[in-house]
Amino acid sequence: MNTLQLDLTGIYPFVSQDTVYSWADKSNAYQAALHAGTGLGNDFLGWIKLPSEISEQDFDAIEAAARTLQQHCDYVISIGIGGSYLGARAVIEALSPSFAPKTDAPQVIFAGHNIGEDYLSELVSFLRGKRFGIINISKSGTTTEPAIAFRILKALLEEQVGKEAARERIIAVTDKAKGALRSLATQEGYQTFVIPDDIGGRFSVLTPVGLLPIAVAGFDIRELVRGARDMSALVGEDVAFEQNLSALYAAARNSLYQAGKKIEILGNYHPKLHYIGEWWKQLYGESEGKDGKGIFNASVDFSADLHSMGQWIQEGERNIFETIISIAQPDSELRIAPDAENLDGLNYLAGKRVDEVNKMAELGVRMAHMDGGVPNIRITLPQLNAYYIGQLFYFFEKAVGISGYMLEVNPFNQPGVEAYKKNMFALLEKPGYEEATQAIKARL
Ligand code: PA5
Repeated sequence: MNTLQLDLTGIYPFVSQDTVYSWADKSNAYQAALHAGTGLGNDFLGWIKLPSEISEQDFDAIEAAARTLQQHCDYVISIGIGGSYLGARAVIEALSPSFAPKTDAPQVIFAGHNIGEDYLSELVSFLRGKRFGIINISKSGTTTEPAIAFRILKALLEEQVGKEAARERIIAVTDKAKGALRSLATQEGYQTFVIPDDIGGRFSVLTPVGLLPIAVAGFDIRELVRGARDMSALVGEDVAFEQNLSALYAAARNSLYQAGKKIEILGNYHPKLHYIGEWWKQLYGESEGKDGKGIFNASVDFSADLHSMGQWIQEGERNIFETIISIAQPDSELRIAPDAENLDGLNYLAGKRVDEVNKMAELGVRMAHMDGGVPNIRITLPQLNAYYIGQLFYFFEKAVGISGYMLEVNPFNQPGVEAYKKNMFALLEKPGYEEATQAIKARL
């Protein structure tokens, strides 16, 4: 097995294979619309060909910038939120050692994805006196959360090393022309990378948005992109529906949704996949939750969450299905040793690998959940490495494009994200929001 596998057999007791396959014609039409750019949101389809369009020069430029930051810094703060944050974090957390930091690259720390005063002030205290740099990522260049983090950390960096040296330790990733970050970067003379106009935030992990922090953290961005490129061929518009993994996943989800399964949980059995779940939640939630429609996405980390959400999943309202990401081969090997006294009663596991126990937990849970009315989709990655994460990203991206069209929504906009910003700006009395300020204050 050298590719991601998709197993839909766990949904067929709930929706028939015929039902799933009845989407074939529509799916082919939606694939064609995606590739021809004739469907909804067609100005945001740059991600489709992106993996095969990244050139040697693109890689070289990102790797050179990463090396500069690596030379100057022990810590690099990747500032961004949503699509300007989650992809990089997903890859870095998936590939980093769980306990000791990687020794051959700076530690990448994330900021700008919250407005927690404690988070930012603890970060400032932590970075005081340390060698650090900043990657400031925002497509619009105007998002409040990262802008606040950048203002605070830029001041700290300049105070520590001076304005000149700070300039060499700050890189901006933003729009080619628009936004406050673009003008600030031009004014200050920062190195910049451009986020293409036709790639929305949640589809931008394979642009410098994701690739630069991932390269700084010391991971192989070429392998990541190679995985995505190989997957783009496997789920291309010329691949028949029955063999097309993204089309099948999209059809399975929509069949389940129409059968009343309104919630999808993405589960994993490996703690390093936690942020893959976070990335997926944004990709699917923001792409499909609109016009009063859309599957609600949540993610769970098993087996930890079997001891919390497990009860709900097993016996709560039967409006849920699960998609499990399984890793065929862990990187390490650890066996459970026999114990002469067997005080813990675990000798029946003696000699077994921890992963064998994990896999039996996974199988047992799948059977129990299906018995309890929870359809199960299983995605297997041969190993957890950059190449297969690249495959997984593209598989999910292509599937959400098709799935959004099946749902008859525009999967590439996010109008609902603006509502909270408007209120927040009105409450904070941002210039230009005077009327909204008056209106909102009258409601208090
Ligand atoms: O998917 C999206 O477009 C959003 O989640 C954005 O990525 C997020 O709001 C951050 O926006 P920006 O990169 O403009 O700061």
